[in-house]
Amino acid sequence: MNLRNATALITGGSSGIGLAIAKVLIDAGTRVAITGRDEKKLYKAAEMLHAVPIRADVTNEADIARTYREVFQAFADLDILVNNAGSGVFKKLVDMDRASFEAVFATNVTGAMLMAREAAKHFIQRNRGNIINICSTASLRGSANGTAYYASKFALRGMTECWRAELRQHNIRVFLVNPSEVLTSFAAAAGYTQKENPTKLRAEDIAFMVKAILEMDDRGFTPELTIFATNPKD
Ligand SMILES: NC(=O)c1ccc[n+]([C@@H]2O[C@H](COP(=O)([O-])OP(=O)(O)OC[C@H]3O[C@@H](n4cnc5c(N)ncnc54)[C@H](OP(=O)(O)O)[C@@H]3O)[C@@H](O)[C@H]2O)c1
Repeated sequence: MNLRNATALITGGSSGIGLAIAKVLIDAGTRVAITGRDEKKLYKAAEMLHAVPIRADVTNEADIARTYREVFQAFADLDILVNNAGSGVFKKLVDMDRASFEAVFATNVTGAMLMAREAAKHFIQRNRGNIINICSTASLRGSANGTAYYASKFALRGMTECWRAELRQHNIRVFLVNPSEVLTSFAAAAGYTQKENPTKLRAEDIAFMVKAILEMDDRGFTPELTIFATNPKD
């Protein structure tokens, strides 16, 4: 697709991977709306990027309905949804509490589904569109302390395959992007520390690949893309 004058909605576009994707798309001439819950962080990012800020929580259906109203008010159309908003809780199974488990699923699974549902209605009508789910290598195999986060990403990967099966006949490309560890504020939000490290992936590396898969001619698409650091050292 041609990204010039295209329109995109990126959940969690106020930080990390979402912000980097917003930047590369805007640099390529796409009009971009970004969402996030923290208004101050969102408005600061939007001003820096020249993006449309929409303060919205993907776990809240009223916020989702308003997100699409604001997107169509701003752009009158939508070509790309990037389901990027995500959070993690990392605890042993024996320590897992129901509230933390359900909070991770509410954002990473239910939120992504509700956002995609509304985008899909629009994309089916116009017979084209793109949904990119920012998943994780956590969707590919399990790990200790991964009960909530890894299971949520397995679920996102599963939903992606279902959406692809339903939407491909409407010329809608559904992509899954699996970054391995990326240096962002995700770790701090999940309660662990990540040191600056030149061998680890940056948000810009993921954004570079997202732009590349979108730019391929609409006759084709990359169903699933996994991105590793070449030789990461802790
Ligand atoms: N960093 C990694 O190592 C890594 C690896 C693989 C995959 N990923 C995935 O990449 C995605 C982006 O993560 P990141 O590393 O860029 O983390 P980040 O820097 O913490 O960014 C997360 C973004 O999501 C927003 N967000 C979180 N919960 C939200 C909600 N309920 N509704 C709307 N926005 C919400 C945050 O803003 P507010 O807090 O203001 O809402 C922020 O803009 C996530 O899906 C994550 O699982 C990350």
